Amino acid sequence: MKGIILAGGAGTRLYPNTIAVSKQLLPIYDKPLIYYPLSMLLLAKIRDVLVISTPRDINDYKTLLGDGSRIGINISYAVQDKPRGLADAFILGADFIGNDNVCLVLGDNVFYGATMSQVLADAKNKIVDGGATIFGYPVKNPREFGVVEFNEAKKVISIEEKPKQPKSNYAVPGLYFYDNNVVEIAKNVKPSARGEIEITSVNNAYLEQGLLNVTLMGRGMTWFDTGSPKGMHKASGFVKTVQEMQGFYISCIEEIAWRKKFIDDAQLIKIGKELEMTDYGKYILSLLEE
Ligand code: DAU
Repeated sequence: MKGIILAGGAGTRLYPNTIAVSKQLLPIYDKPLIYYPLSMLLLAKIRDVLVISTPRDINDYKTLLGDGSRIGINISYAVQDKPRGLADAFILGADFIGNDNVCLVLGDNVFYGATMSQVLADAKNKIVDGGATIFGYPVKNPREFGVVEFNEAKKVISIEEKPKQPKSNYAVPGLYFYDNNVVEIAKNVKPSARGEIEITSVNNAYLEQGLLNVTLMGRGMTWFDTGSPKGMHKASGFVKTVQEMQGFYISCIEEIAWRKKFIDDAQLIKIGKELEMTDYGKYILSLLEE
């Protein structure tokens, strides 16, 4: 399975923070925002990753992440010249995806949960014979998201993008698993009223074919959409608190790469030593004392 991180967009809701810097490079507490969605791909054991960003910002991502070999993965890059919509990821990424299935994660979504590896493995497994897996997460402000509609039998009957009158409080987070048909489906999506080719249209296409799995995330999972200064601050506070109280870091990409055996002890020590002047580097070195 391939993985795509969509890290473009204008970031206007975060101005002036994002006038000169890409939103997904801003920090969530002690690490760049993009580390969090990248961690989801690593936890899903996806080692071929495409990062999509703007013509202005793509080189900054290359500086930060390089070719991925430092953490034992392959990272390639694509430019999106305009924010045409989330489904554009599959059009821009068509060659990269080839004949594989693909996981898309939005560059500004932060997830955390003890059972995340299992949740991701299940999502992947559900589509080995085709179809799509997306998630539903209970929120107080469903109007700002894609929203799942259920019938009385709790069966999913539609997904609506930013509905004025949401039919449930289950938002669809920015983490999606698709079979290879997603490329053709994306190419046929018509732009919405806001002029974007919406991921929600892709999800509804799978739903109409009876091929959409919606997994509800419960109490044990945490999801932040960091689209506003408040959202970023909330996520930063959460990461700081959990890391300080539990001693485990959230979305330390080097740790995940090591635990998943993408890199060995010697590679982890090398990275830890390079960052030794920070708590982040000290944490990495401490992992080998376990
Ligand atoms: O966060 C989850 C929500 O993400 C979903 O519930 C919605 O169904 C989905 O449409 C999306 O809604 P947003 O309004 O939050 O999407 P936004 O335009 O903020 O874009 C999400 C990220 O993707 C953001 O980091 C910018 C990036 N992006 C966006 C577009 C439209 C791109 O890189 N290229 C694009 O063309």
